[in-house]
Amino acid sequence: MAAAPSTATDAVLVKSDEMPSDSVKVKGYDFNKGIDFHALLESYKTSGFQATNFGLAVEEINKMLRKKSEPIEDQEQADTYKSLNPCNRKKTNCTIFLGYTSNLVSCGVRETIRYLVQHNMVDCVVTTAGGIEEDLIKCLGPTYVGDFQLSGRMLREKGINRIGNLLVPNDNYCKFENWILPILDQMLLEQKTQGIKWTPSTMIARLGKEIDNPESIYYWAYKNNIPVFSPALTDGSIGDMIYFHSYKNPGLVLDIVEDIRRMNSQAVYAINTGMIIVGGGLMKHHICNANLMRNGADYAVYINTASEFDGSDSGARPDEAISWGKIKKTATPVKIYADATLVLPLIVAETFARNFKATPE
Ligand SMILES: NC(=O)c1ccc[n+]([C@@H]2O[C@H](COP(=O)([O-])OP(=O)(O)OC[C@H]3O[C@@H](n4cnc5c(N)ncnc54)[C@H](O)[C@@H]3O)[C@@H](O)[C@H]2O)c1
Repeated sequence: MAAAPSTATDAVLVKSDEMPSDSVKVKGYDFNKGIDFHALLESYKTSGFQATNFGLAVEEINKMLRKKSEPIEDQEQADTYKSLNPCNRKKTNCTIFLGYTSNLVSCGVRETIRYLVQHNMVDCVVTTAGGIEEDLIKCLGPTYVGDFQLSGRMLREKGINRIGNLLVPNDNYCKFENWILPILDQMLLEQKTQGIKWTPSTMIARLGKEIDNPESIYYWAYKNNIPVFSPALTDGSIGDMIYFHSYKNPGLVLDIVEDIRRMNSQAVYAINTGMIIVGGGLMKHHICNANLMRNGADYAVYINTASEFDGSDSGARPDEAISWGKIKKTATPVKIYADATLVLPLIVAETFARNFKATPE
């Protein structure tokens, strides 16, 4: 019998170097242990692919939370920072920024976000216009589960709007108009008679106060003095209402210059910062850009479906933000490529919710 050609055996049977002694073996969950969701989620870290990134993201957020719970490193600096920060929020050792796209408020992730804001677990929120109005509108009328395949023509004839596989009756936007226009009238009156300078973030706080409903993210943001920024607040139904109002009762002004000072101050006058950015687009950049003003965030987790091959900011990995000084060179940032509806509630379960100790009323 002839021997196999040595070129082939040499190519196939290449000898390996020893793996480093601290190498981690791939291992998934064994269901013979019963259904233990915590153990299952812990096993993700050694499972590979996006499951491993999930495990790393849990570790990164838990690092933020440990840092936050530590005593403030330099109290004198913290007092100076507090006096310089126009939002006057109680300082902790780590300021956590939370950003999310509008659709995440349209869907059930809204309740996960509301939990974080309700319990004062994050310090600064950034979202797009839909991320504000969808929360308020849900207090006036429900959003329903539908189907991605429903015909746009048929839905238009019935006055029903589709967001992915969710359905929103157009009546909800009529209810929103009836609710918000008198508030805009009142804001304009206060601008004229008391000299109040409104900004998108102070308007969001006012809407949170007016909605007065504990199901709302912005009700809790108002109660807990968590600033919410939305620099493109006009790109949604709120913008439609501001547009209509500008004919009915003209003169309302929203100052985005004041808000960029308020937003950047959250990063500049923070002791350490962590970013949790769910989705891409404007809110992702707005948080990263504020953190450039402090030469980079200390901790970062991105969750999104975007890829970097097209050069988009949405798809940019944390490493690109390091090149810009938006994340520190020493940080250990993580990106999970996934639909946030699947991932964010599980991450919160393994981090904020697991660490949460309810304080007695
Ligand atoms: N319900 C809505 O989506 C809604 C409602 C009203 C207005 N708008 C307006 O539409 C504009 C664009 O919306 P936007 O900037 O909030 O985001 P977007 O919908 O444009 O999404 C930006 C990127 O985020 C990522 N992303 C989105 N959903 C994700 C998910 N479920 N999981 C993981 N990654 C995800 C994707 O990479 C996406 O390309 C905004 O001005 C907004 O106000 C949206």
